[in-house]
Amino acid sequence: MIMRPYQYANKLVQALPPELSHTVALLALRGGLYPRARGRTEEVRACLSQQVAGLHFINPVGMAAGFDKNAEVMHALWKIGFGAVEVGTITPQPQPGNPRPRVFRLPEEQGVINRYGFNGQGIAACLPRIKKAFEAQDRGVFGINIGKNKLQEDAVADYRHMIEHAYAYADYITINLSSPNTPGLRNLLDEDNLKLLLAGMRAAREKIADKTQRYVPFFLKLSPDMEELHIKQSIDVAAMFGINGLIVSNTTIERSMLPPACAYRDEIGGLSGAPLKARACQALEICARHLKGALPLIAVGGIDSADEAWRRIGLGASLLQLYTPLLYHGLGLVEEINSGLHQRCQQNGYSNISQAVGKML
Ligand SMILES: Cc1cc2nc3c(=O)[nH]c(=O)nc-3n(C[C@H](O)[C@H](O)[C@H](O)COP(=O)(O)O)c2cc1C
Repeated sequence: MIMRPYQYANKLVQALPPELSHTVALLALRGGLYPRARGRTEEVRACLSQQVAGLHFINPVGMAAGFDKNAEVMHALWKIGFGAVEVGTITPQPQPGNPRPRVFRLPEEQGVINRYGFNGQGIAACLPRIKKAFEAQDRGVFGINIGKNKLQEDAVADYRHMIEHAYAYADYITINLSSPNTPGLRNLLDEDNLKLLLAGMRAAREKIADKTQRYVPFFLKLSPDMEELHIKQSIDVAAMFGINGLIVSNTTIERSMLPPACAYRDEIGGLSGAPLKARACQALEICARHLKGALPLIAVGGIDSADEAWRRIGLGASLLQLYTPLLYHGLGLVEEINSGLHQRCQQNGYSNISQAVGKML
């Protein structure tokens, strides 16, 4: 089989230490070394496209937050075939994140542990690129994932700052309260804190929407480490305060699914990829059963095949996001999942993917 230049690049990238390989992958994408999505027939396009939270998604497969933290390669990702790209997490001020090493590959388990800690350039440095991408003609859905700086005690102030700066250039905004790598962040998902925070976000949105006559949906990203009751409480609060969708889920701090011999088992950070599948599915199902379609769900966590993607849709997800499985399966996974979903729709007599949502519940 003849290898294409991006496939050589992919092999090279995989041989490097994980953080360096990520930097090289971003460079390759900026340099045009990536596979382009194939053209699709009208029937396939009609099958995969959906209106979710008022936005038009040409297909359900999105790039999850954390890959393009500083909003540098959105165009390449859309061309690869992602229906949506979520950049970030972006914080108000630049910050270095945790000391290195802070990301570990678990190849046997097809997982990753990371404790980056919202390293990033900050919103002001990202804005020119964000603005350009948002204004481009040929693009997919553009989401901005927002967070707070590590040393900021007033979380509401940081999230408001982010909304005030990102709102004008986002199709949707994800409020990330579920990263395990920023001390205290997950406490913001506790009922009283969440009410306070989301009330602040809602007020910020109302003010801007009134002025601009443009309504931007807000998604809340949940942790897979919450008890069932906590998940239900959080989604009730989210619905009450105008959240338009839930992303399920972020990485886990649980390690029981890893074998004792796993070399990086005791590294602190969030675990993603295949070992997260069961937890992410469990959290998704709790959300879907509780919400009964009241809010759209976006599934993420170990989606590494068309079968796994189909399962999440069956468990109630309208949309999907990927990150870690791309490291092990390559960027071709995006097309593999999209064409696999189309095939499964045909087999089940569905003309649109939305007809499959929640069918396994
Ligand atoms: C290296 C790395 C960095 C990440 N950074 C972020 C981040 O900045 N913000 C965020 O919301 N999620 C972040 N995530 C979590 C992913 O968006 C996703 O929720 C999680 O990895 C599960 O999906 P996956 O198994 O497809 O990777 C990160 C994940 C990885 C592996």
